[in-house]
Amino acid sequence: MMRMLGIETSCDETAASVVALGDDGAPQILSNVVLSQIGEHAAFGGVVPEIAARAHVEALDGVVEAALAEAGLGLGEVDGIAATAGPGLIGGLIVGLMTAKAIAAAAGKPLVPVNHLEGHALTARLTDGLAFPYLLLLVSGGHTQVVLVRGVGRYERWATTIDDALGEAFDKTAKLLGLPYPGGPSVEAAARRGDASRFSFPRPLRGEARPDFSFSGLKTAVRQAASAIAPLSDADVADICASFQFAVTETLVERVGRSLDRFRETFPGIAAPALVVAGGVAANKAIRAALEELASRHGARLVAPPLELCTDNAAMIAWAGIERMRAGLVEGDALALPPRSRWPLDGDAAPLVGSGRRGAKA
Ligand code: KG4
Ligand code: ZN
Repeated sequence: MMRMLGIETSCDETAASVVALGDDGAPQILSNVVLSQIGEHAAFGGVVPEIAARAHVEALDGVVEAALAEAGLGLGEVDGIAATAGPGLIGGLIVGLMTAKAIAAAAGKPLVPVNHLEGHALTARLTDGLAFPYLLLLVSGGHTQVVLVRGVGRYERWATTIDDALGEAFDKTAKLLGLPYPGGPSVEAAARRGDASRFSFPRPLRGEARPDFSFSGLKTAVRQAASAIAPLSDADVADICASFQFAVTETLVERVGRSLDRFRETFPGIAAPALVVAGGVAANKAIRAALEELASRHGARLVAPPLELCTDNAAMIAWAGIERMRAGLVEGDALALPPRSRWPLDGDAAPLVGSGRRGAKA
């Protein structure tokens, strides 16, 4: 039996969770507390780093207490403290990691610094007991990546965005159409009422052999279409959203298809490969449906963890802590490690020229 307290503060969710690994190897989420700061950032149309850091300071102690109480455990009964050490907004990371260090030192428990992206990457093993290797599509506000997950701590980034993240493209599109933050759900809701064939938006990088993504040109095309017909009626907004979402979905499918082909070539012995989708954009029903169809066309299956575990949470961090501890991958000098606002999952990957990240969300 192993019990891990997890802490997540890399963006705009203050989260704590306790996850247990039974002697039979079955994991169990004992608590999963997530306090969203969306209301505090909504007026600004995006996450404001300073506001986020302050909100984490105010909320974290209470969130950790709530997670322990819900799990019915005292600090003395957990076997370790896992905390997100990066990548993300540095203010929030400092709050979470320093708190975790203090708790670990006071309680005499090991500290497990976790890469936030590793949390997303390993969630499907917590929820579905997935075996390695598998392909991960991470589509969030800060990242759009395809990662080959070979094992704990063994990741290969196969594709990434060369400019905006997909969630960011949704958020920016919403903002320029005057729709509320966060943009993804607003654009999806408007798209449901719109005509996807009215505007023909570009399919960036389509047909290129490299499997990467690009979304900033799409955003520009949306801006031009909107200003050409301004002032916009509700129907115009709905048509733009539907056309945007259609373009994005088609692009994603074509791009991810290349990585699925590569997976099949790399692992010919795996009969039904798993494509795991994580990140807030995975909430989008049109995108989910398209990915499901894509997976089945490739003889693969789509694994989508429940939404509350797809978006930022601390259960994934606690679970990554358990996986690392179980694999003997916990550094002895963890208390001395600093938070890292940038921290690629695949440390060996060559930096991609032009891969702008806004650094806010992961
Ligand atoms: O994973 P997440 O909650 O936070 C991080 O970015 O880490 O993802 C948030 C992102 C935002 O950009 C939001 O607009 C997008 O996910 N999103 C969606 C939908 N719901 C959330 N994008 C498209 N359709 C949605 N239904
Ligand atoms: Zn995330």
